[in-house]
Amino acid sequence: MEKVVSGIRPTGNLHLGNYFGAVKSFVKMQEEYDCMFFIADWHSLTTRPKPEDIQQSARIILAEYLACGIDPQKAPIYVQSDVKETLELYLFLNMNTYIGELGRVTTFKEKARQQPDNVNAGLFTYPTLMAADILQHRAKKVPVGKDQEQNMEMARKCARRFNHIYGVEFFPEPQNFYFSEKAVKVPGLDGSGKMGKSEGNCIYLHDDDKTISKKVMRAVTDMGPQTPNSPRPEVIENLFTFLRICSTEETFKFFDEKWNDCTLRYGDLKKQIAEDICKTVAPIRERITEYTSNTDLLDRIAREGAERARESALATLREVRKIIGFRS
Ligand code: TRP
Repeated sequence: MEKVVSGIRPTGNLHLGNYFGAVKSFVKMQEEYDCMFFIADWHSLTTRPKPEDIQQSARIILAEYLACGIDPQKAPIYVQSDVKETLELYLFLNMNTYIGELGRVTTFKEKARQQPDNVNAGLFTYPTLMAADILQHRAKKVPVGKDQEQNMEMARKCARRFNHIYGVEFFPEPQNFYFSEKAVKVPGLDGSGKMGKSEGNCIYLHDDDKTISKKVMRAVTDMGPQTPNSPRPEVIENLFTFLRICSTEETFKFFDEKWNDCTLRYGDLKKQIAEDICKTVAPIRERITEYTSNTDLLDRIAREGAERARESALATLREVRKIIGFRS
C-alpha cells in the first residue's frame, strides 16, 4: 500500500468546511492507503503561541479528528513534537537547501510581511521541516490544499537533491494529492464565498443545535424566486449546497421544485437546512465531548501514534545516517 502522510495545523476548532474538505478525505484515504497523520505543533511555533495553549490545542484537534472518524488503528495519528527523530532529518535537509530558494517561497515572504519584527529562522526553514515530516516516512502522497504547492515543491527538491548528492535512489518524490478538487466547497452563511474561520461565517462541529439554528436562520437571502425556472443567484445556490451535502435527495428535489415554481419560502428552507445540519453535526459533537473529557485516552492514542511514527522515522534515519557517512 502506498504511503500517505499529512500534517494538520492546530489552529482552532473544525468547522463544516474543514469536515467536508480535508477531514472527510482523510477518513476515506485511511481505507485505501497506508496513512499517517500528525499535528504540526512545531510548525505553529513560528508565530509564538502561548505555552499554556500548545498541548491543549493539540488535544482539541486530535479529539476532533478522531470524532470525525480517523481510526488510529488504520491511520496512526501523532503529535509532531513527540517524534524528535524528525529534527535530525531536518538538520540534514537544511545542509542541502539554499537560502535563495527558501527566500523565494511566497508563504515565507507573506509571513515576513505580516510579522516584520519576527522574521525568524524557523519561519525561513518551514519548508525543510515540512520536507522532513514527509520524507522521514518516505511517503509517496501528501494530501494538501493548493496553498501548500510551493512547500511540496521544496519537499520534492529535498528528496531529489539528497538522492543526487549521494548517488542513491533513496527518497521517493512526494506527490501532492489534492482533495480540494473532489471535495465539496462549503459556502459561508453570509453569502460570500466559502466557509472559513477568518471570514467568521462558520458552523463549528462543536456548535449545539441552538447555535446552528441561529446561524442558519441569519443566513443571507434575497426577495425570493420571481420567474419560474430561473437560475438561482449565488446566495441562494449556497443554501442549496447545504441541502446537497446534509439532506436527502428527496429533500433537495422538494425545495428545488418549490424554487422552480416560485412557491419557495426561505423560512421553511432554512428550517430544513438547520435541522439537517444538526443531524450531521450532533453525533460528531457528542464524540468530541467524549474524547475531550477523556484526556487519558487521547494521550494514549497520541503516544501509540508517536511510537509507530518513530519506528518508521528511525528506519529511514538509520539509512540516511549511513548514506551521509555517520554511524547508523
Ligand atoms: N504546512 C501545512 C499547512 O500549513 C502543515 C504541514 C506541516 C504539513 N507539515 C506537513 C502538511 C507535512 C503535509 C505534510 O497546512
